[in-house]
Amino acid sequence: MQIASTLDVLRKALAALQEGGATIGFVPTMGALHEGHLALVRRARESCDRVVVSIFVNPAQFGPNEDLAAYPRQLAEDTAMLEAEGVALLWAPAVEVMYPAGFATVISVKGVSEGLCGAARPGHFDGVATVVAKLFHQVRPDMAFFGEKDYQQLAVIRTMARDLDLARPHADAIIGVPTVREADGLAMSSRNRYLSPGQRAAAATLPAALGEGVAAIEAGEPVRETLAALGGRLVAAGFEAPDYVTLVDAASLAPLDALGDAPARVLVAARIGGTRLIDNMAVNARPG
Ligand code: PAF
Repeated sequence: MQIASTLDVLRKALAALQEGGATIGFVPTMGALHEGHLALVRRARESCDRVVVSIFVNPAQFGPNEDLAAYPRQLAEDTAMLEAEGVALLWAPAVEVMYPAGFATVISVKGVSEGLCGAARPGHFDGVATVVAKLFHQVRPDMAFFGEKDYQQLAVIRTMARDLDLARPHADAIIGVPTVREADGLAMSSRNRYLSPGQRAAAATLPAALGEGVAAIEAGEPVRETLAALGGRLVAAGFEAPDYVTLVDAASLAPLDALGDAPARVLVAARIGGTRLIDNMAVNARPG
């Protein structure tokens, strides 16, 4: 696996990889890799000839009181994991390469980025959209792969790619990959390592309550009461009052009071012991 940390090396490496018309699958990450990231890499390998991964802890998507300094950094370990997965190229730029002095551009996706995590983390999705747009222009992949765990992020990136008429990747070539879970159902996340053993045990209530809430809504239980009960279960397990527990349209993320014919999703964000966890699951519309 080649490692590039300057744009010049990246461009030369990409040109060599694309010789003979080979397709590029791209997995952007912030490192601290786990099985969830490796599932993205494996999906990219299935769909494309060569896989490029980026590792960049993006300061622009962290708020002033968030965990930028503490965010786990383990480049040597990550490199070994990517090598073992057959990744062709790792793009690992320094902050000065991504944001040189005088950098002044922000990409802001209205609407879909405004509620939910966008409300709790002002500026977060501007930081995500800006860095992902930059990464897309640098790597120019045929396809790009993101986890469905960050469901709003996926919607923001698809909207950005569609609105800017991106060709590489085209909005339709931005692929959402199902969430990878621990044995007890907790969605894999680099932030799970912040949980104490007690918090980690309690955190398993999140996927359990979410799954039961989804099943209740699918069975025709009233949405508002079901979501309130889900939030109550989290608080009883030791979570703070959730930032949100909501049923949304799976494409627009518009809130729904009832399940209709279109695909829907329950989205949850809640803190436990200072660590903010998010999760979401699809809700199947009732037949007939
Ligand atoms: O999901 C992430 O790891 C980050 O938000 C991303 C997409 C790599 C942008 O920094």
